[in-house]
Amino acid sequence: MESTPGAGASRPGDSAAPLADLVGTGLLVPCLDGSGRPAVELDQAASTQAHPDAAARVEEFLPWYSSVHRGAGYRSRRATVAYEDARQAILAFGGRAPDGPDVAILCRNTTEAINHLAYRLRLRPTDVVVTTVIEHHANLLPWGRVAERRYVECSGEGTFTLDDVCSALNAGDRPPALLAITGGSNVTGWLPPLDPIIEAAHERGVPVVVDAAQLAPHRPLPATADFLAFSGHKLYAPFGSGALIGPRALFETGDPFLAGGGAVDLVGLDEVVWTTPPDREEAGSPNVIGAVALHAAIDALGRIGWEAIEAHERVLAQRMVEGLRSIDRVRLLGPNGSDGSDGSDSPDGADGPHRTLPVAAFTVEGMHHALVAARLSAEYGIAVRHGCFCAHPYVVRLLGLDAAQVDAYRNEVLHGDHRNVPGAVRASAGLGTSGHDIDTLLAAVAELAAGAPAPVPYRQDIVTGDFFPVTDRAGWRHAADEPGAACSRG
Ligand SMILES: Cc1ncc(COP(=O)(O)O)c(C=O)c1O
Repeated sequence: MESTPGAGASRPGDSAAPLADLVGTGLLVPCLDGSGRPAVELDQAASTQAHPDAAARVEEFLPWYSSVHRGAGYRSRRATVAYEDARQAILAFGGRAPDGPDVAILCRNTTEAINHLAYRLRLRPTDVVVTTVIEHHANLLPWGRVAERRYVECSGEGTFTLDDVCSALNAGDRPPALLAITGGSNVTGWLPPLDPIIEAAHERGVPVVVDAAQLAPHRPLPATADFLAFSGHKLYAPFGSGALIGPRALFETGDPFLAGGGAVDLVGLDEVVWTTPPDREEAGSPNVIGAVALHAAIDALGRIGWEAIEAHERVLAQRMVEGLRSIDRVRLLGPNGSDGSDGSDSPDGADGPHRTLPVAAFTVEGMHHALVAARLSAEYGIAVRHGCFCAHPYVVRLLGLDAAQVDAYRNEVLHGDHRNVPGAVRASAGLGTSGHDIDTLLAAVAELAAGAPAPVPYRQDIVTGDFFPVTDRAGWRHAADEPGAACSRG
């Protein structure tokens, strides 16, 4: 599609101009009225578009692309230096000193980082990992494979307190082996009070892993967390790299997560001598392009500065939350769903009842979440996500579903029918989002909630639960038949 210069970017009179024009800003997407509209990307919590610096750095680097730690050629030396420089930048981004006790292990994404850690901690099945019911599946499922889980429950608003975490840490006869907690919810954007939680865990001798997938693009990472995991594709560097940061000592002994070339000092047919970390943990040829891009994105965030990022996103979050709250038949989930008149404090001490990331999950009364998302895309050019956002236990709680309701759709899913899987719609913003983008969303949601008729019928797919317009319009004609057409995989 063509692009409209400046569309989606800064507009005169917009009090919340974007902090960066991400790659693809202004691209037109096809809509059912036959127009091409500037894409309104409000699915930043899933994946962000690339920061232009990340794309430029990759382009600059490509002519020098070569193997890393595997060649004597000049290109190979340059590629190795670029990769190791990226590692240092990632470590610093995690609040770690360059020659301190911690190491950054480069991997594909947060999911891989947490699975890597779950393998390397060598827990026993009887060990307890304390985690919370608000976690993304990436920070729930790996722990269930290697240990017993004990959960911190959430309130009806989808939050918990420091005391709730302490109670879970204190329960049982033995201290837990680990606390695995999110830095920010991908559903509600809620920010648990991380610093005191980490301190409380440490007072009890419990190490902490923070799933920083959502936190990393928006806030400084907690330097006191023992382990951090995050993804480049949520951080304006969608080139397939992420990181696990943790104490080097943990990775100095035992079997690495992956076995193969680059991770060894010596191999015989019946013997292997693993090398030292981080190489010990990175068997196989690494993703140097991803590392270079992540490094550039981290540099770009550094130049913009957390203060500016937080200020921009606070304006967006407030506009989105207040706007959605004011629309009839729209229900916001999580702490933003209430007006804060209960007097509860914001987690990081800032003003406002419930400061969250610029993320809002909502439902529209009488409309399937998948239909809302489909219509926002097909009729307005607005990209959001719908479903349970890879956080089924949390969404079930936020929606207030009882066991019978869960059982009913569970049975249908087991029979291949996803039509009645409950869920919500999520809008999420970032560096590239403008106040105008938020206003476009609010106007569209208001129209849908008021019962605006669909211009064409929509058909729901049984297998995915998604809705697709029945139309011959270019761009939408074959939408339902595209391979992997589901957009709400959990
Ligand atoms: C809070 C959180 N944790 C983990 C993940 C998994 O990240 P990835 O898909 O990059 O592995 C996500 C992705 O949405 C997330 O939001």
